[in-house]
Amino acid sequence: MAKKRPLTLITGASSGIGLEFAKICAKEHHDLVLVARSKDVLKKIKKELETTYKATIHIIDQDLLEEKSISSIEAKLKRKKLIINNLINNAGFGTSGLFEKLPLEKELSMISLNCSKLVELTHTFLPQVIKRKGRILNVASTAAFQPIPQMSTYAATKAFVLSFSKALHEEVESKGVSVTTLCPGPTKTNFDKVAGMDKSSLFSGPGVMDAQEVAQIGFDAMVNRQSHVVAGMQNKAGALLTKLVPMSASAKIAKKLMGKK
Ligand SMILES: NC(=O)c1ccc[n+]([C@@H]2O[C@H](COP(=O)([O-])OP(=O)(O)OC[C@H]3O[C@@H](n4cnc5c(N)ncnc54)[C@H](OP(=O)(O)O)[C@@H]3O)[C@@H](O)[C@H]2O)c1
Repeated sequence: MAKKRPLTLITGASSGIGLEFAKICAKEHHDLVLVARSKDVLKKIKKELETTYKATIHIIDQDLLEEKSISSIEAKLKRKKLIINNLINNAGFGTSGLFEKLPLEKELSMISLNCSKLVELTHTFLPQVIKRKGRILNVASTAAFQPIPQMSTYAATKAFVLSFSKALHEEVESKGVSVTTLCPGPTKTNFDKVAGMDKSSLFSGPGVMDAQEVAQIGFDAMVNRQSHVVAGMQNKAGALLTKLVPMSASAKIAKKLMGKK
């Protein structure tokens, strides 16, 4: 009898790292639930992945920042009698600039998408993942390892994701479930444009990674049930450095790297 294909829900699947997760999962015989706001883009991805990999792709165009977004996704899956095996919490965005000059509303939306919605999605779907002894992959960032002046709120959201995910991994491991945290450094996606950092040298140097490579590292770590993975040698070295110096010193180094404003 043919093995049943696992069903994987990916948020932020319309571009960047999330889109690459979708391609890798489909190639690895997963069926998918893809969530993002861009309906037409999701439709195109569905067609492409169904044709190339014979996967079944369900798309949900949903702004996760809307109030009842998660219960609406849950209801849609329930109506189709779909139970997920794996959850990839990838949707997120960043902002940059001096905190006092950034619009408060955007900062609060970022905290909501990067943290609250990730927690809500995890809480909603954890029972299904436990039932299926599946996997959760949460996308944090190397920004999680130190405070970053001019990205103060963003770095704090990713520190939250890292801490939450690592604790949850320990809680659910005995139930046959893993929670993997992926920490990418600068990666070629729409992130830099959305964060107003497309002119920053952080996103133009040789250390900038391809989204495909980053997603593959995250996918492999998820499959191997690792608790966390930092993408790429340069980022691994940077992460190690932050462990060797006090937080106040790493914040000053980050301040230098971010440049003057
Ligand atoms: N690129 C980097 O350098 C980098 C580094 C470290 C960590 N990360 C993290 O990687 C993750 C993926 O980002 P990316 O780099 O791939 O950026 P991206 O290309 O901008 O992708 C972001 C994805 O999130 C979706 N999204 C944004 N707001 C949403 C909302 N309100 N509701 C639903 N979906 C929403 C976007 O789709 P729609 O616009 O269609 O909604 C898109 O699919 C993020 O968590 C980011 O913080 C990125």
